[in-house]
Amino acid sequence: MQKTRIGIIFGGKSAEHEVSVQSAENVVAALDKSRYEPVLVFVDKGGNWFLRNGEDAPLTIASCDLSSVFDVAFPLIHGPFGEDGTLQGFLKMANVPFVGAGVLGSAVGMDKDVMKRLLVEAGMEVGKYLTIRESDKLDYGEVVNKLGEVVFIKPANLGSSVGISRVTNEAEYSAALSLAFSFDRKVVVEANIDGREIECAVLGNNRPMASVPGEIITKKDFYSYEAKYIDEDGARLEIPAKLEVDKMKEVQTLAVKVFKTLECEGMGRVDMFLAADGRLLVNEINTIPGFTKISMYPKLWEVSGISYSDLINRLIKLAIERFDRENNKINNNL
Ligand SMILES: Nc1ncnc2c1ncn2[C@@H]1O[C@H](COP(=O)(O)OP(=O)(O)O)[C@@H](O)[C@H]1O
Ligand SMILES: [Mg+2]
Repeated sequence: MQKTRIGIIFGGKSAEHEVSVQSAENVVAALDKSRYEPVLVFVDKGGNWFLRNGEDAPLTIASCDLSSVFDVAFPLIHGPFGEDGTLQGFLKMANVPFVGAGVLGSAVGMDKDVMKRLLVEAGMEVGKYLTIRESDKLDYGEVVNKLGEVVFIKPANLGSSVGISRVTNEAEYSAALSLAFSFDRKVVVEANIDGREIECAVLGNNRPMASVPGEIITKKDFYSYEAKYIDEDGARLEIPAKLEVDKMKEVQTLAVKVFKTLECEGMGRVDMFLAADGRLLVNEINTIPGFTKISMYPKLWEVSGISYSDLINRLIKLAIERFDRENNKINNNL
């Protein structure tokens, strides 16, 4: 039997470059080599593509027929240019099946403002927030009136807590706005939510399923870049999260609803807050969640009964299934 070549696309122009490299190493190690042949496609921090076959050979995108390089792509690049629909659009144009959300799901999942609007429209609850653009003026007094004194300021399209600040006074507010606007032309200002951080993994295309929920327990003010990647004691994962059975089911139902509402496919990790009064407020979806062996997404599935390598198999199958379905529709209409 001819092996399916899996193009693992990793690295990238992103703050999560190193995590992506680790995810790729773990995926390659766990890939069932009797069925699949890994093809490593490395994107450096400058955005240059290389085919890694012992020696790095530059991949010239314009002249490269990606489908001759691999059969299925497994994008593992987090954040902009990896998780936001751009890479997905490129793979779609190249006519190769790929793991994870398509163009639309990736794009809306990346934009914290558009994402919240779609969730609210579908009847889900998100924390109070305001969206501002560079030309808008929004002074701290107005923010305090609408959202309270403590707020989170975030670039609309980023990840890994990069550019995010927790603000408690006017001086911090202006510094936080400048920082966020240095990353994006659109910024969200969110009311501080006092609650537990619960995450749930979703897997599937037409009939997505939810894993057991997990919890992030942080030592500091919030789950910052440092707590995520630098400070080993910055946070710990509790899987499954200690929740009543009913609440656990509510988390799972909500996670699937978020996934479907945001037009996701393949995989997604839905992050939410369990507020002190028991309400679940959706924070965000990650369409390419951290994928190292010890990352939340694979861990949640492991505890739910799907091993790391089985998870990879399923994701590849889902990618091919979606590709075939889309191609059938297109061919039927020719
Ligand atoms: N409104 C909020 N209230 C309380 N904590 C928040 C709020 N928004 C974000 N946080 C904290 O900041 C972290 C990063 O924010 P998040 O929106 O998840 O950004 P990213 O997409 O970079 O992961 C969260 O995991 C949480 O710890
Ligand atoms: Mg997050």
